[in-house]
Amino acid sequence: MFERLERMPDDPILGLMAAFRADADPRKVDLGVGVYRNDRGETPVLEAVRKAEQAVLARQTSKTYVAPIGNAGFNQCMERLVFGEDHPALKAGRVRTIQAPGGCGALRVGAELIKVAMPEATVHVSTPTWANHVPLLTGSGIKLERYPYYDAATGGVNFGSMMAGLEKLPARAVVLLHGSCHNPTGADLSEAQWREVLALVTKRGLIPYIDMAYQGLGTGVAEDAFGVRLFAAELPEVIVAVSCSKNFGLYRERTGALHIVSQTTQSADAILSQLVRIARTIYSMPPDHGAAIVQEILSNDGLRSAWTDEVGSMRNRIASLRQDVVARLAKSAPQRDFSFIERQRGMFSYLGVNVDQVRALRERHHVYMTDDSRINIAGLRSDNIGYFADSVAQVLAGGK
Ligand SMILES: Cc1ncc(COP(=O)(O)O)c(C=O)c1O
Repeated sequence: MFERLERMPDDPILGLMAAFRADADPRKVDLGVGVYRNDRGETPVLEAVRKAEQAVLARQTSKTYVAPIGNAGFNQCMERLVFGEDHPALKAGRVRTIQAPGGCGALRVGAELIKVAMPEATVHVSTPTWANHVPLLTGSGIKLERYPYYDAATGGVNFGSMMAGLEKLPARAVVLLHGSCHNPTGADLSEAQWREVLALVTKRGLIPYIDMAYQGLGTGVAEDAFGVRLFAAELPEVIVAVSCSKNFGLYRERTGALHIVSQTTQSADAILSQLVRIARTIYSMPPDHGAAIVQEILSNDGLRSAWTDEVGSMRNRIASLRQDVVARLAKSAPQRDFSFIERQRGMFSYLGVNVDQVRALRERHHVYMTDDSRINIAGLRSDNIGYFADSVAQVLAGGK
């Protein structure tokens, strides 16, 4: 049976990681992998997570099954974190939540739900979008198309083209939006633009599917959820996939949630029963450990404020790296305007160099990024940011 299987091509990001590991040059800089790093280049366990984990372990008396929806306490805490305390959709009993194995698991469960509700559904993603959106969404059998989004000339959103693209969609088309910290471009919608998208989505009868993988890492915990909260208050149906990987640093614990906002409590209950069935047919139940940690943090005032501070310092570090790298590039490569990097949010930006220049940065300067020139800003450190800016300047000048 297996003799017929062909070898799949390697994932480019894994290849990049392997090449980085094999590079013996001490100056090497890894801007490829999408994880947060501190100024020592580490992705540490957050202090709030460490403390919550100890409390969880001390209290735990059994490893028996929890439930297909996961930890109900975690789900409630996530609803309040994502939608905000006292959100009208929560008060009206219109939201149902299932814990999922990471943001990826949530995205996939959401896609399966769409497939059940609308077998002919098409989901529309931004150009560009996070590469994994494609397999995660189409893996359920729904179709995928794209709408215009990023404007390479300004480093911002090409809002006119985006709106024109969405305007053409038929009613009930699903539109995938990034809640904040757009991956890979860092170009986010402003609050005014969220409102305009809301008006269009309402007028055209579109169904928003919001992916929120970076709450707290852009402008603030509440600010980053602006679009989700606005849409959930104003629209009959919204799908929200959330990841705790980055903002809680729980990557390997596979912690996430899928929230579905629907019109009535009856439809919400029907949806939850469908989500349970979907979970049962894929992985049965999500892993508990990360969710128990997040629940502990969010339901304990001391831990919650410690976490809020930690996520704030991650956010501030990214923002100051953005400023610093723009200032350094302005000096080393004044012929090119990189100021857009400072206007963007979250961990990622497109540097905006071509694939030959990406290769030159890798081969001659040991600076690693994906071929589309996406850089993880958090991979910069005080001891390599100058080297990075000089390397970019040399490659732009065509030198060595
Ligand atoms: C845009 C986006 N969505 C979702 C995820 C999901 O992450 P995870 O499954 O690790 O929680 C990521 C992670 O990189 C992401 O960048």
